[in-house]
Amino acid sequence: MKTFSKGKVGVLFTVFVAQVLLLVDSTNGAGDEYLEHFRGFANDLISKTKDTTEATETKPGLHLFNPFGIGILLAHINEQVWNVSTVGIPEALHTQKKLIAKEYTQLLRQFRRRQFRISNTVYSRFANLTRPMAFDQFLTHIINLDFTNQTAEFFDSFNSFIDSGTKGYLNNEIVPKLLWRKIFENTTMGSYLNTLYYKGSWEQPWSNIGDKPFNYDSLVPFLETRGEFKVVETANISAVVLNIQDPGKEVIFFKSASFLDTPRLHEEFLKVQANQSLWSMQNLTVQVPAINATNMARHHLGLAHMGVNQTFCLINITDPQEFYYTQQPITQGNHFEISATHLELASASGTLVNYQSDDVNINDLEFAEDYYDDDYDVLETEPELDDIEEHVNSRQFKNQERQRIRRATPSKLLGGCGRPSETGASKLSTTQNQIRTITKQGKSSKMLVFDTPFSWIFRDEEIGEVFYGHVSSLCQFNKASNAIFTSPTHAWLHDVFKVAFWKCIA
Ligand SMILES: *[C@@H]1O[C@H](CO)[C@@H](O)[C@H](O)[C@H]1NC(C)=O
Ligand SMILES: *[C@@H]1O[C@H](CO)[C@@H](O)[C@H](O)[C@H]1NC(C)=O
Ligand SMILES: *[C@@H]1O[C@H](CO)[C@@H](O)[C@H](O)[C@H]1NC(C)=O
Ligand SMILES: *[C@@H]1O[C@H](CO)[C@@H](O)[C@H](O)[C@H]1NC(C)=O
Ligand SMILES: *[C@@H]1O[C@H](CO)[C@@H](O)[C@H](O)[C@H]1NC(C)=O
Ligand SMILES: *[C@@H]1O[C@H](CO)[C@@H](O)[C@H](O)[C@H]1NC(C)=O
Ligand SMILES: *[C@@H]1O[C@H](CO)[C@@H](O)[C@H](O)[C@H]1NC(C)=O
Ligand SMILES: *[C@@H]1O[C@H](CO)[C@@H](O)[C@H](O)[C@H]1NC(C)=O
Ligand SMILES: *[C@@H]1O[C@H](CO)[C@@H](O)[C@H](O)[C@H]1NC(C)=O
Ligand SMILES: *[C@@H]1O[C@H](CO)[C@@H](O)[C@H](O)[C@H]1NC(C)=O
Repeated sequence: MKTFSKGKVGVLFTVFVAQVLLLVDSTNGAGDEYLEHFRGFANDLISKTKDTTEATETKPGLHLFNPFGIGILLAHINEQVWNVSTVGIPEALHTQKKLIAKEYTQLLRQFRRRQFRISNTVYSRFANLTRPMAFDQFLTHIINLDFTNQTAEFFDSFNSFIDSGTKGYLNNEIVPKLLWRKIFENTTMGSYLNTLYYKGSWEQPWSNIGDKPFNYDSLVPFLETRGEFKVVETANISAVVLNIQDPGKEVIFFKSASFLDTPRLHEEFLKVQANQSLWSMQNLTVQVPAINATNMARHHLGLAHMGVNQTFCLINITDPQEFYYTQQPITQGNHFEISATHLELASASGTLVNYQSDDVNINDLEFAEDYYDDDYDVLETEPELDDIEEHVNSRQFKNQERQRIRRATPSKLLGGCGRPSETGASKLSTTQNQIRTITKQGKSSKMLVFDTPFSWIFRDEEIGEVFYGHVSSLCQFNKASNAIFTSPTHAWLHDVFKVAFWKCIA
């Protein structure tokens, strides 16, 4: 009896193992194309930033990208709940139209399996929306709320979705606080919103080593760690891999001695990443700024360069009175934090759909009395929103914003931004070489210091690049961030920029 049972169990076990093997096979075999497609899309997105003049962030000096947030929005738009053109979306996502829903369902499951918290929501003003089957697979919530007559409920609901999906980091960060009615107006029919959150512990903790100069113009808190790391160094690039405790997750920091711009540095990295013979294990001391940054970006011009050029901000010049649906830009807020023990990231992406929207109503933004402040000359020059509209996309935007900030920021060192001392600066110039050898008390050791512009990638071994960041000037970034907190004028301007990032302006 016993032996019979054992035999039966054995057979069942064999069948079970066979099935598991089949499952494993189907997830690792040819079914992985969706991951290749996603990687292609993510790489294009970063490389196309160089082709556009769009202001890609609200605070200059630091870029943060979450390609998945943008890809899944395109996958939602592709379902055509509203009749917006999907021309170019399949090509941009490196796939076929009929496969988008399936591939993004697989991708979404993969992200969830790999410990990312994701949410998808669609807001509709009218209850007559037909729910596409893909939304069931995407686990997308549909919420019917008319912004025009259920204003308070809508605002609470929208913000609470962002809040709960990003652990509070992006609450009120991407939605204008005072001017939010300027983005949800009578012509707005609905919106798509998604969030992503991840927190992990470093395999090897860092220690805080106090303030150090970054790129000659700022003094910022740095972290340091020592150990045996995977490293690459070529004439063009130095990179080091730091592991997260979750298996198969890592952050790669990299920089170039020749100060390549974001897309070129990324391209250079992809080249060396593919060539395993360039990498080696080395005992190394690594120093990085303790990045704790929140920023907002908008995407639609880069997507147009990828062929999605009839979806966003379409205006019929021949007949501006014609009625049609048009998608507003994709706005994305990201929070990225590296602490001694943890890595934490939160992201929210959203886009509105409007019914005929050639008249951009940025000009009728009301001026809240409280936001006038005599100490600052910014508003005395009439905060013409035409100006803002013009500047958001102009090449001079960053310079002007920089000047505004300089004028409005008290001259004392603010939150770690200021000129480093002479000795600090000369110290910095010697660390410009990539990996250097330092000799202390007869013992030599190697060191890689990220104290000049650099990029980093948060990678998952199954998915590939999940999150991408680039620092060009922490001084500019810190000044802009601090100005928002210290000056009501800048808080107000920041609100105006948030409006601009949700709308088709220039
Ligand atoms: C969708 O929009 C296109 C282009 O504006 C138009 O030709 C088509 O008739 C619309 N379809 C529906 C079902 O409204
Ligand atoms: C939903 O209802 C609104 C208002 O009645 C109407 O304008 C819109 O065309 C309807 N949409 C669909 C898809 O039927
Ligand atoms: C708001 O307007 C919509 C139609 O646009 C209607 O269905 C809904 O009942 C209204 N809600 C309230 C609270 O008046
Ligand atoms: C928006 O809709 C509300 C209510 O339907 C109406 O009172 C208001 O005049 C409209 N505003 C514009 C700019 O059309
Ligand atoms: C370094 O970068 C330059 C310019 O992008 C390129 O021409 C060269 O081939 C690169 N060198 C290596 C070793 O990759
Ligand atoms: C990898 O790098 C080595 C060393 O620079 C080089 O000789 C080799 O050609 C590279 N392989 C590929 C596939 O680029
Ligand atoms: C790193 O240092 C440890 C301890 O000194 C040593 O055992 C190990 O071999 C070193 N690794 C490399 C790659 O040099
Ligand atoms: C990072 O910034 C957030 C605000 O965005 C703040 O709440 C948090 O305390 C900061 N973390 C550290 C380690 O300073
Ligand atoms: C849209 O993109 C396609 C493919 O890249 C291109 O052939 C076409 O000329 C573009 N159209 C416009 C209006 O830019
Ligand atoms: C723009 O409007 C004109 C006139 O109504 C129409 O013939 C043309 O097809 C429209 N173009 C687009 C891209 O919808």
